[in-house]
Amino acid sequence: MSDNVRNALVERIKNVQAMPTVPPTLLPLLHMLELPADQWDMRKIVDLISCDPSLAAQCLRMANSPLFGRSRTITTIHAAVITIGTGRLWDLLTAFCLMDLAPAEQWLLDPLSFWEHSFGCALISRHLAQIVGFSQPDKAYAGGLLHDIGEMVNSLLFPKEFRAAADLAFTEEISLVEAEQYVMGISHCEAGRLLADHWHMPEDLAQVIRCHHHEVAPTPEHAALVMIVSLADLLCRVRGMDYGYYEAVQVDLVADPAWLYLVREFPRLRDVDLVRLSHELDDYASEAKRIVAAVFRTDSK
Ligand SMILES: [Fe+2]
Ligand SMILES: [Fe+2]
Repeated sequence: MSDNVRNALVERIKNVQAMPTVPPTLLPLLHMLELPADQWDMRKIVDLISCDPSLAAQCLRMANSPLFGRSRTITTIHAAVITIGTGRLWDLLTAFCLMDLAPAEQWLLDPLSFWEHSFGCALISRHLAQIVGFSQPDKAYAGGLLHDIGEMVNSLLFPKEFRAAADLAFTEEISLVEAEQYVMGISHCEAGRLLADHWHMPEDLAQVIRCHHHEVAPTPEHAALVMIVSLADLLCRVRGMDYGYYEAVQVDLVADPAWLYLVREFPRLRDVDLVRLSHELDDYASEAKRIVAAVFRTDSK
């Protein structure tokens, strides 16, 4: 691909008219993560939800769903927030924000597979963060959830080119990032970073989006977060939690840059029982499917 074509693609991304708009409650939700969950201001969260009719309706629907087994009907946002509980609240609120980002017909990848991969990566990122003692496990969850958001950008803005890249990935069983570089000269990481800047996302999450395939090195202060999500993404793909196609992932875990970084910075990772971890990954795959089914209501079809 010539530099001219690549530059034209970058220019198209920078055209603010064409970029997806940030869901109004997403940034306040991301900023909540600067504090631990036990310090969140519930009054502010209730106000935030109440200002967004779609989010409010989703919260009430979820609180009244069989998932929470309440005998009485929940009718207020405050009661819905208490019912859902802080443990799941942030996960569900961000899911509700993201689910309407793009209409299903505009996705070139299967959106359910995409979100199952993203939620699976989010759950595993948080788990890895807890294992290694990273101070912001919920931030790792957010990084996992958003790391591939650039694929949505490529899908919406460059449908023809992204279709060709996806076809190449499917037929050659290679990673999407390789196929995108080959066909488009711009990966979902670069496209995602432009979206992250356009949305004024926190810098640590923007670096997760840009650096999770090691195309560019993160800055030292955000490297741990990036590497946790990068490793979680790799584990997801190895376990078949990918984008709905078979990817022949050749993994030498102990030679992977993310693993090497993390065992150096968090030596306790060396003691992790990898067999047990792989069983836990299967549990997270099921949990990711449950979240996506509940949020996207595929369970009721
Ligand atoms: Fe990716
Ligand atoms: Fe990914």
